Amino acid sequence: MSYRYLGNKAKLAEWIVGEVSAILPSGSSIADPMCGTASVSIALARAGYVLTASDSLTFPVVHARVRLLAKEAPAFEALGGYVGALEWMNTVEPVHGYFYNEFGAAGSPANGRAPRLYFSAENAAHIDGLRAGIRSFQEAGVLSVLEHSLLLQHLLLSTNKVANISGTYGYFRKTLSSNAARPMRFEPLDFEWTPGEHRVLQGPVEEISPTLTTEAVYLDPPYTKRQYAGNYHILETLALGDEPVAAGDGGLRPWMDQASDFCYRRSAGQAFRRTLKSIRADHIFISYSEDGQVEKDELMAILEEFGRVTVQQQPHSRYRSNDRVKDGSVLEHLYHVEVS
Ligand SMILES: C[S@@+](CC[C@H](N)C(=O)[O-])C[C@H]1O[C@@H](n2cnc3c(N)ncnc32)[C@H](O)[C@@H]1O
Repeated sequence: MSYRYLGNKAKLAEWIVGEVSAILPSGSSIADPMCGTASVSIALARAGYVLTASDSLTFPVVHARVRLLAKEAPAFEALGGYVGALEWMNTVEPVHGYFYNEFGAAGSPANGRAPRLYFSAENAAHIDGLRAGIRSFQEAGVLSVLEHSLLLQHLLLSTNKVANISGTYGYFRKTLSSNAARPMRFEPLDFEWTPGEHRVLQGPVEEISPTLTTEAVYLDPPYTKRQYAGNYHILETLALGDEPVAAGDGGLRPWMDQASDFCYRRSAGQAFRRTLKSIRADHIFISYSEDGQVEKDELMAILEEFGRVTVQQQPHSRYRSNDRVKDGSVLEHLYHVEVS
């Protein structure tokens, strides 16, 4: 599972695991409290580490639950097994509801704006049908937490494939792309068995860290000014199953209360300090790009307040989206702090 997510480390995960394993033996416990798509979490879990993954947003928690905790397909007794659950997802009755109106090509947004072309009318109605069905299964109490997360995981991944966007959900394309015109499809996922007894939590890193008793923490904070809560508002709404006010032309859910201090030049340094202070582990690993809000020298100085610092680097291709193409490669740094 991988998709275009700002700062997704899928392509760097093996390198990161190699660097971690040079310091920390397999079988040790490690937290990934800004887990995003959980690509580093699952790579560490494959290498034998015991993971605690979390994020401040809800959809990354869905990704982490499925990738770390669903070691095989759940039973889905109420839906006739996993095959029955997928059959239901593919054939559910469409509904003209919140997604159809707020984000579909034939919609009529509540604030009177023009239809938002995030989805074809058919796919938006399919999403509404699935949301209504998942809600009623939840109300009837027929899904386990993992079954619920797996239905949401399928919904998130298939939605990404037909979203009419250029990279993020910050805005939609002016005309429907050929991918967006395709109907949504739901295919079986591969489940991965990993040896650890993993945990998945949700909350800001500053609140989660003091509760952790892991031997190491891996931090992968945002490094650009682009806020995840705004840029992935539709994924958050799918994961929460709610119907927030969709504001302005873009239809963003209210997100300012989830804004990350790591995204602002003025507050990123203090966010690092606060986060490192809240961590009780002996080892802290930090991924950060040379393009980040905090310059390398400044970050080194902050980290050295907490212990002995070493840094490894790896060239990596820059994040690209169709609306902002930046060519070339960028150096990704992996800092290790041996806490004193
Ligand atoms: C660079 S991405 C992580 C990417 C991830 N390693 C991957 O491979 O997909 C940063 C993540 O940090 C989360 N985040 C931002 N500020 C946070 C905070 N204060 N506490 C917890 N998570 C935060 C964002 O929601 C986002 O998922």
